[in-house]
Amino acid sequence: IPVEPFDYVVFGGNGDLAERKLLPALYHRDHDGQLPEDARIIGVSRADQSDDAYRAFAQRALEKHVRAEDMNPVSLERFLNRLFWRRIDAKGDGGWDELKAILDERDGNRIRAFYMAVAPNLFGDLASRIHDKGLATTRTRIVVEKPIGRDLASARLLNETIGRYFDEEQIFRIDHYLGKETVQNLMALRFANALYEPVWNASHIDHVQITVAESVGLEGRAGYYDKAGALRDMVQNHLVQLMCLVALEPPAALDADALRDEKLKVLRALKPIDASNVETRTVRGQYKAGASSGEAVRSYLDDLGGPSSDIETFVAIKAEIGNWRWAGVPFYLRTGKRMAGRMSEIVVTFRSIPHSIFDSTVGSVMQNQLVMRLQPDEGVKQWLMIKDPGPGGMRLRHVPLDMTFAESFRTRNPDAYERLLLDVIRGNQTLFMRRDEVEAAWEWVDPILTGWAQKGTKPQGYTAGTWGPSAAIALIERDGRTWHEPE
Ligand code: BG6
Repeated sequence: IPVEPFDYVVFGGNGDLAERKLLPALYHRDHDGQLPEDARIIGVSRADQSDDAYRAFAQRALEKHVRAEDMNPVSLERFLNRLFWRRIDAKGDGGWDELKAILDERDGNRIRAFYMAVAPNLFGDLASRIHDKGLATTRTRIVVEKPIGRDLASARLLNETIGRYFDEEQIFRIDHYLGKETVQNLMALRFANALYEPVWNASHIDHVQITVAESVGLEGRAGYYDKAGALRDMVQNHLVQLMCLVALEPPAALDADALRDEKLKVLRALKPIDASNVETRTVRGQYKAGASSGEAVRSYLDDLGGPSSDIETFVAIKAEIGNWRWAGVPFYLRTGKRMAGRMSEIVVTFRSIPHSIFDSTVGSVMQNQLVMRLQPDEGVKQWLMIKDPGPGGMRLRHVPLDMTFAESFRTRNPDAYERLLLDVIRGNQTLFMRRDEVEAAWEWVDPILTGWAQKGTKPQGYTAGTWGPSAAIALIERDGRTWHEPE
């Protein structure tokens, strides 16, 4: 779908997200010839700098975050010429007239997207000023990044504040996991094949595992992270969204509301975890000193520079969805910092065969597994039992039908933001979170947080560079299952 001319205003245009993700993503789309002529990107913050200084900042960001083979002087120059800088005062009047002036250089019918790559306490101030200063047109869109609240009440307040100035159709709440290739591929696998959907239920599926493991630690984000923790930072949004996409009923069409209606039904069917069961359904962990990629690394507390903290850097949860399709099928979720590697995957384990005709001397029959790898090495593997080739008689082997994207398609795997940033311009909200979804996810997460507080559940230590506290292994092994071992 061609992209109409647009102006992207990036609040926090010189911040970390713009540097690492937004500018490189827009550059890639431009390099691939997808940005219309005269599309502009206007960086904004309270910093006082010239357009040229911003272009120099962007060039450094691209040199750092784009592979050398994708950098080309023609593309680079074209991209840098799209960049402008304006200084504003988010909480006052300063600079807003100048920002309006540059936008008004183009006709009012052009798409205006305002990306709030800033702390959420500024969302309200910015939304009200965009509105009151006359910057909003009927074709204006607002993009907000997480965290959308730190509990249900604050999420509602944020949604109400932005909703006062903009319609839901104008608000794009980013969960960048929805833009990842494998996540979209999950929709293709489930709904573009006749094979899976008939067996995609409790009669055929034993359980589902979702792991988002990171090898990085705190990364200088102490101020935010030590108030959030892994449950708020990763589970409330990314892991819950992945669980919804695995579990949802087939939507009637791949349009935004059809899909989001189905995700909402999953969220509402999640069985509550609260003080009554939080101790058997969840595990909290915090990393201790250890090693990552062969290097010694510090503990969370040392990274934080504080004497103590009750914030979890790891969480594992046994979730259940109380509906006909998923009755009795656990969804084991886990995510953490400073784990044994960077590895995210969704593993669907099918039930054992009802009766084996093979005796144990030919090998054991393993359960079929569908492994969807989000990162690194994006791809899908369907594990099956086959006969070991050769004349030696029947020997069973467990092998994958392997579709590693890089090998099968030989293309660069685009970053999630590349897709999402242009979906905003296209006005396609399918991969963005609707207000009621965000709030329903908090409705499930809030009682876990209060459950921990009521029970005094503290994070258990785990050595950096491992798969988390031993209690997380016990959580799944109690049920006679094991975490999928990454290959
Ligand atoms: C962000 C979290 O939403 O996702 C970070 O705030 C985390 O803590 C990041 O590191 C992980 O994203 P990705 O794309 O690197 O898996």
